[in-house]
Amino acid sequence: MNNSAMTTTNFQLNGKAFSAIASPDTPLLWIIRDVANLTGTKFGCGIGLCGACTVHLGRRAVRSCMTPLSAVAGMQVTTIEGLSTDGQHPLQKAWVQTQAPQCGYCQSGQIMQAAALIRRFPNPTDDDIDAVMNGNLCRCMAYVRIRQAIKLAAAQVQEAAAHG
Ligand code: FES
Ligand code: FES
Repeated sequence: MNNSAMTTTNFQLNGKAFSAIASPDTPLLWIIRDVANLTGTKFGCGIGLCGACTVHLGRRAVRSCMTPLSAVAGMQVTTIEGLSTDGQHPLQKAWVQTQAPQCGYCQSGQIMQAAALIRRFPNPTDDDIDAVMNGNLCRCMAYVRIRQAIKLAAAQVQEAAAHG
Protein backbone atom coordinates (compact mmCIF):
# COMPACT_ATOMS: atom_id res chain seq x y z
CA MET A 1 0.00 0.00 0.00
CA ASN A 2 1.10 3.60 -0.61
CA ASN A 3 1.42 5.09 2.88
CA SER A 4 1.89 8.58 1.50
CA ALA A 5 -1.79 9.06 0.70
CA MET A 6 -3.67 7.14 3.36
CA THR A 7 -7.32 8.11 3.65
CA THR A 8 -10.35 6.55 5.29
CA THR A 9 -12.88 4.94 3.01
CA ASN A 10 -16.23 3.85 4.42
CA PHE A 11 -18.41 1.23 2.81
CA GLN A 12 -20.64 -1.73 3.66
CA LEU A 13 -18.87 -5.08 3.67
CA ASN A 14 -21.19 -8.08 3.78
CA GLY A 15 -23.91 -5.94 5.29
CA LYS A 16 -21.81 -4.28 8.00
CA ALA A 17 -20.20 -0.86 8.11
CA PHE A 18 -16.49 -1.07 7.34
CA SER A 19 -13.73 1.55 7.33
CA ALA A 20 -10.45 1.04 5.54
CA ILE A 21 -7.47 3.33 6.04
CA ALA A 22 -5.40 3.00 2.89
CA SER A 23 -4.41 4.73 -0.30
CA PRO A 24 -7.55 5.24 -2.41
CA ASP A 25 -5.94 3.40 -5.30
CA THR A 26 -5.39 0.22 -3.27
CA PRO A 27 -7.11 -2.67 -5.03
CA LEU A 28 -10.25 -3.74 -3.18
CA LEU A 29 -8.92 -7.31 -3.22
CA TRP A 30 -6.14 -6.44 -0.77
CA ILE A 31 -8.54 -4.60 1.53
CA ILE A 32 -10.81 -7.64 1.59
CA ARG A 33 -8.02 -10.15 2.16
CA ASP A 34 -5.40 -8.27 4.19
CA VAL A 35 -7.44 -5.69 6.11
CA ALA A 36 -10.80 -7.44 6.56
CA ASN A 37 -9.13 -10.89 6.69
CA LEU A 38 -11.76 -12.41 4.41
CA THR A 39 -9.66 -14.87 2.46
CA GLY A 40 -12.36 -16.59 0.43
CA THR A 41 -11.75 -14.08 -2.37
CA LYS A 42 -8.65 -15.21 -4.27
CA PHE A 43 -5.79 -13.59 -6.12
CA GLY A 44 -5.19 -15.17 -9.49
CA CYS A 45 -3.81 -12.83 -12.13
CA GLY A 46 -4.15 -9.34 -10.67
CA ILE A 47 -5.04 -7.90 -14.08
CA GLY A 48 -8.73 -8.69 -14.50
CA LEU A 49 -8.28 -11.80 -16.63
CA CYS A 50 -9.16 -14.79 -14.44
CA GLY A 51 -12.14 -13.96 -12.22
CA ALA A 52 -10.73 -15.53 -9.03
CA CYS A 53 -11.19 -12.21 -7.21
CA THR A 54 -14.85 -11.66 -8.17
CA VAL A 55 -17.09 -9.95 -5.60
CA HIS A 56 -20.29 -7.94 -5.86
CA LEU A 57 -20.34 -4.18 -5.87
CA GLY A 58 -23.99 -3.40 -5.34
CA ARG A 59 -25.67 -5.97 -7.57
CA ARG A 60 -22.82 -6.17 -10.10
CA ALA A 61 -20.05 -8.75 -10.21
CA VAL A 62 -16.69 -6.97 -10.37
CA ARG A 63 -13.03 -7.97 -10.34
CA SER A 64 -11.77 -6.77 -6.99
CA CYS A 65 -8.15 -6.79 -8.23
CA MET A 66 -9.09 -4.05 -10.69
CA THR A 67 -11.43 -2.09 -8.41
CA PRO A 68 -9.73 0.73 -6.51
CA LEU A 69 -10.81 1.32 -2.94
CA SER A 70 -12.01 4.79 -3.95
CA ALA A 71 -14.68 3.19 -6.19
CA VAL A 72 -16.45 1.48 -3.29
CA ALA A 73 -16.97 4.48 -0.99
CA GLY A 74 -20.54 4.38 0.28
CA MET A 75 -21.25 1.17 -1.65
CA GLN A 76 -22.27 -2.33 -0.64
CA VAL A 77 -19.53 -4.92 -1.21
CA THR A 78 -20.39 -8.61 -0.91
CA THR A 79 -17.81 -11.38 -0.83
CA ILE A 80 -18.31 -15.14 -0.84
CA GLU A 81 -18.47 -14.98 2.97
CA GLY A 82 -21.48 -12.67 2.71
CA LEU A 83 -23.40 -14.52 0.01
CA SER A 84 -25.38 -16.31 2.72
CA THR A 85 -25.11 -16.44 6.47
CA ASP A 86 -25.19 -20.22 6.63
CA GLY A 87 -23.71 -21.54 3.38
CA GLN A 88 -27.20 -22.39 2.19
CA HIS A 89 -27.44 -20.09 -0.82
CA PRO A 90 -28.93 -22.13 -3.69
CA LEU A 91 -25.65 -21.84 -5.59
CA GLN A 92 -23.65 -23.09 -2.61
CA LYS A 93 -26.01 -26.03 -2.20
CA ALA A 94 -25.91 -26.80 -5.94
CA TRP A 95 -22.10 -26.60 -5.90
CA VAL A 96 -22.02 -29.27 -3.19
CA GLN A 97 -24.68 -31.37 -4.87
CA THR A 98 -22.81 -31.45 -8.20
CA GLN A 99 -19.37 -31.65 -6.55
CA ALA A 100 -18.38 -28.81 -8.88
CA PRO A 101 -14.92 -27.91 -7.52
CA GLN A 102 -11.70 -29.77 -8.06
CA CYS A 103 -8.86 -27.82 -6.39
CA GLY A 104 -11.37 -25.11 -5.45
CA TYR A 105 -9.16 -22.10 -6.03
CA CYS A 106 -11.37 -20.44 -8.65
CA GLN A 107 -14.65 -21.42 -7.08
CA SER A 108 -15.55 -18.46 -4.90
CA GLY A 109 -15.13 -16.25 -7.94
CA GLN A 110 -17.19 -18.65 -10.02
CA ILE A 111 -20.01 -18.65 -7.45
CA MET A 112 -20.05 -14.86 -7.13
CA GLN A 113 -20.16 -14.46 -10.91
CA ALA A 114 -22.90 -17.11 -11.08
CA ALA A 115 -24.93 -15.28 -8.42
CA ALA A 116 -24.96 -12.18 -10.61
CA LEU A 117 -25.81 -14.38 -13.61
CA ILE A 118 -28.93 -15.97 -12.14
CA ARG A 119 -30.19 -12.59 -11.00
CA ARG A 120 -29.98 -11.43 -14.60
CA PHE A 121 -31.03 -14.71 -16.24
CA PRO A 122 -33.34 -16.60 -13.87
CA ASN A 123 -33.51 -19.51 -16.34
CA PRO A 124 -30.10 -19.38 -18.03
CA THR A 125 -29.37 -21.15 -21.30
CA ASP A 126 -25.95 -22.56 -22.16
CA ASP A 127 -25.32 -19.41 -24.21
CA ASP A 128 -26.26 -17.15 -21.27
CA ILE A 129 -23.90 -19.08 -19.02
CA ASP A 130 -21.08 -18.99 -21.56
CA ALA A 131 -21.53 -15.26 -22.13
CA VAL A 132 -21.48 -14.32 -18.44
CA MET A 133 -19.04 -16.92 -17.10
CA ASN A 134 -16.42 -16.90 -19.85
CA GLY A 135 -14.12 -14.55 -17.94
CA ASN A 136 -13.96 -16.90 -14.95
CA LEU A 137 -11.17 -19.34 -15.65
CA CYS A 138 -10.73 -22.77 -14.08
CA ARG A 139 -7.38 -24.47 -14.40
CA CYS A 140 -9.00 -27.75 -13.36
CA MET A 141 -11.48 -27.54 -16.24
CA ALA A 142 -14.52 -27.96 -14.00
CA TYR A 143 -16.64 -26.04 -16.51
CA VAL A 144 -19.15 -28.81 -17.18
CA ARG A 145 -19.96 -29.27 -13.49
CA ILE A 146 -20.05 -25.51 -12.93
CA ARG A 147 -22.64 -25.23 -15.70
CA GLN A 148 -24.67 -28.07 -14.16
CA ALA A 149 -24.52 -26.39 -10.76
CA ILE A 150 -25.71 -23.06 -12.16
CA LYS A 151 -28.68 -24.69 -13.88
CA LEU A 152 -29.55 -26.66 -10.76
CA ALA A 153 -29.40 -23.56 -8.56
CA ALA A 154 -31.48 -21.52 -11.01
CA ALA A 155 -34.11 -24.25 -11.11
CA GLN A 156 -34.18 -24.41 -7.31
CA VAL A 157 -34.62 -20.64 -7.06
CA GLN A 158 -37.50 -20.78 -9.55
CA GLU A 159 -39.14 -23.67 -7.71
CA ALA A 160 -38.84 -21.90 -4.37
CA ALA A 161 -40.38 -18.76 -5.90
CA ALA A 162 -43.26 -20.80 -7.35
CA HIS A 163 -44.01 -22.30 -3.93
CA GLY A 164 -43.20 -19.23 -1.89
S1 FES B 1 -7.13 -11.85 -9.74
FE1 FES B 1 -8.66 -10.47 -10.40
S2 FES B 1 -9.26 -11.17 -12.37
FE2 FES B 1 -7.57 -12.45 -11.80
S1 FES C 1 -11.40 -25.95 -9.42
FE1 FES C 1 -9.24 -25.73 -9.61
S2 FES C 1 -9.00 -23.86 -10.68
FE2 FES C 1 -11.11 -24.23 -10.73
